[in-house]
Amino acid sequence: MSVQPQQKRRTAASIQALKGARPVVCLTAYTAPIAKLLDPHCDLLLVGDSLGMVVYGMESTVSVTVEMMIAHGQAVMRASKEACVVVDLPFGSYQESKEQAFRTAARIMKETGASAVKLEGGEEMAETVAFLSSRGIPVMGHVGLMPQLVNATGGYRSLGRSDAEAEKIRRDACAIDDAGAFSMVIEGTIEPVARDISAGLKAVTIGIGASAACDGQVLVSDDMLGVFTTFKPRFVKHFANLAPEISAAAAAYAEEVKARTFPGEDHTFQMKRQKL
Ligand code: KIV
Repeated sequence: MSVQPQQKRRTAASIQALKGARPVVCLTAYTAPIAKLLDPHCDLLLVGDSLGMVVYGMESTVSVTVEMMIAHGQAVMRASKEACVVVDLPFGSYQESKEQAFRTAARIMKETGASAVKLEGGEEMAETVAFLSSRGIPVMGHVGLMPQLVNATGGYRSLGRSDAEAEKIRRDACAIDDAGAFSMVIEGTIEPVARDISAGLKAVTIGIGASAACDGQVLVSDDMLGVFTTFKPRFVKHFANLAPEISAAAAAYAEEVKARTFPGEDHTFQMKRQKL
């Protein structure tokens, strides 16, 4: 009997090793069928807390719970086998102390099997990132625009145009890098700042609205697929336009149900014919 070599999942270390070699490909995934389709094409699958808005129709990511992240993390892990899966720590589950962050991150990793967690924050989270990283939890940081802070910062806009803003993002990124993050998302940040940060860090920078100068890119998969059409930020590109196709399919289904043309013969069970 020949033993087939098991295909290994990418790890945080193997992602970090891609820095300077080639751009890193990341998409968000929240459900098993989508994770299965994205997995062969992605280095990283991010179970982002954007699921609050994209899947649950919430106004922001603030109400997302640890239990939601675990349920979706498990679905994505079950359906993927190659990508490194990273699960977001939701708002309120890690900011209180490094010990709270460790408890939440350890629970998420144990219950989902994911390889790493992501948390938002800069200098103020550096001690937490160091605490987790030195205790076996690979951390992806998230600097620039931080959606969990929407109530304090007052909205979603690109950052880095003033010297003060640019300097703050630089300091945040360096603090998280020094603390041992293997990677960090840079969101909504002007190109020169993202370029400068990416060139100076050990961590792999993953841009969203932060230019091609980052080490890799992430998009919310429902944005990229043209399913989530509530609003379209400038940095989103629709690589497919599924919303009208889904509407058209639902309309065709409704018409056939009303006309009793669906289900047809092919979709209907009958008594078995007796053999003569
Ligand atoms: O929650 C999320 O999906 C994210 C990405 C947009 C980077 O943080």
